[in-house]
Amino acid sequence: MTKPVTRSRIFVALDTVDLEHACRVARDLVGSVGGIKIGLELYGAHGVEAARRLAELGLPIFLDLKFHDIPNTIASAVRAVLPLKPALLTVHASGGPAMLRAAAEAAAEAGEARPRIVAVTVLTSIDERDLGLVGQRKPLAAQVQRLAELALGAGIDGVVASPQEVAKLRAKCGDGFLLVVPGIRPPWAASGDQKRVMTPAEAIEAGADYLVIGRPITSAEDPRARVERIVAEIDGAPVPR
Ligand code: C5P
Repeated sequence: MTKPVTRSRIFVALDTVDLEHACRVARDLVGSVGGIKIGLELYGAHGVEAARRLAELGLPIFLDLKFHDIPNTIASAVRAVLPLKPALLTVHASGGPAMLRAAAEAAAEAGEARPRIVAVTVLTSIDERDLGLVGQRKPLAAQVQRLAELALGAGIDGVVASPQEVAKLRAKCGDGFLLVVPGIRPPWAASGDQKRVMTPAEAIEAGADYLVIGRPITSAEDPRARVERIVAEIDGAPVPR
């Protein structure tokens, strides 16, 4: 399978409540990245308006709303966002098999233009200790694997997982299963609240399809220069200054 070019594998997380700022950053990144991730912050502040405005730029939209509810509600919620034509849409794998199947079936109603549904396994801000605190079984890597296999069996297109679990997931779930990977930190970036991190090059090497990168790009005065630096680092080219 031919892998897509590096920059098309980067989704930039526009985590802000300022829609005008998000649009400015996104406009600057057209042609530099594979798409834009709209999360709860931007969606909470501006809802469908955020998705419509950003989609106008022609960049694929990753709608990261992390749905987690009963199957009937999830099916309706997925149908409700189909008109926004997201390329990717998230649900929580821990919602269980019936919920996952309901999401996959509702997405399929959009035919060829359907969003790819990816299931969040264990948030990248959670570590082994936190996992125990929420009553989930350790080790963390096994919990991620269990949830990924559940998602695969329920007809879900892929999972969101930390870069540290990617190699095993790729080996177990096959090439066609999408691996969407946040918790990405270039060597020169602060990790912030992310606990299970890797560099962009390491994550791609491990088998990630898409990298979700927020603050290392959006906190810069020149986000496009940051993207170019990351792309060059992944491709092993001389790093642009
Ligand atoms: O700024 P940063 O690169 O940490 O942003 C990562 C993005 O990925 C955030 O928008 C966060 O909501 C999202 N995400 C995550 N861990 C998951 C799923 C999504 O960090 N498991």
